Amino acid sequence: MQYRFGDRFRILPALVLVLLLALPSFAFAGHGDAAPVKKGILLVAFGSSMPQAQASFDAIDKAVKKAFPDVPVRWAYSSAIIRHKLAKEGKLIDSPVSAMSKMMDEGFTHVAVQSLHTIPGEEYCGILETVEKFEGMPKGMTKVVVGKPLLYSNDDMQKTVAAVLSSIPKERTKKDAVVLMGHGTPHPANIYYPASQYYFSKADPNIIVGTVEGTPTLDDVKAMLKKRKVKKVYLMPYMSVAGDHARNDMAGDEPDSWKSELTKAGFKCVPVLKGTAEYPAVLDIWMDHLKVAYKHLGNN
Ligand code: CO
Repeated sequence: MQYRFGDRFRILPALVLVLLLALPSFAFAGHGDAAPVKKGILLVAFGSSMPQAQASFDAIDKAVKKAFPDVPVRWAYSSAIIRHKLAKEGKLIDSPVSAMSKMMDEGFTHVAVQSLHTIPGEEYCGILETVEKFEGMPKGMTKVVVGKPLLYSNDDMQKTVAAVLSSIPKERTKKDAVVLMGHGTPHPANIYYPASQYYFSKADPNIIVGTVEGTPTLDDVKAMLKKRKVKKVYLMPYMSVAGDHARNDMAGDEPDSWKSELTKAGFKCVPVLKGTAEYPAVLDIWMDHLKVAYKHLGNN
């Protein structure tokens, strides 16, 4: 084949194209430094000081590492009270800000931060504000994307209802009620609990949602149970972990626990001490949110 002078000019655009394709493996940090792309995942839970809560965290950790075998996975707890409590026992857990700082120092350029919270409340909003500041910091991270909590969209509500329904103990009959104990908050996102009630009621009229610190209250739950004339009540946490609230406020023997109060009101209570993240069907929803966040990191 004849090689002519003009071919060089035809090769040039191809060469430029090859160079452009090679670019995405470099992320531009501040001051024009090109840092190699390094992706990571940060999982942020509220945290729990109870060792039994670890079952949920272990299930999440395992699922994430299985779905992202080549991506480093870090953890942080968003509750300062829990972190300080654990620190006194010698267990040091990062806050979202310290975990992000460490990852930045280690050269992570793209980080997917997954909220392991149930609703987009104060904890989730705090994470969002905190970690997004790391994006675009000089010599810092190029891209930070936060994955949604369990309940965010209409689609999440429907999926969560189906997943929770499939996780109820098999021995429960339709005559028995299931009381889901959510956390509750003064934050506007508390509306996700009454909203959950709407979706659960459509699927199964004997599922009742209550909260420890918000609306609906235990009194609301009691009134609904009375209206439904049920005898037996399964008590389940509507929280990722079966920690302090589940073991004490819900199922504890203290006279003001939900179990004691509902027993006093004439219901036969069966507490189920498992956090929602221990049910693979529910965990899958958080995993889907993480997959979306990770995809949005892109490559440059
Ligand atoms: Co609490």
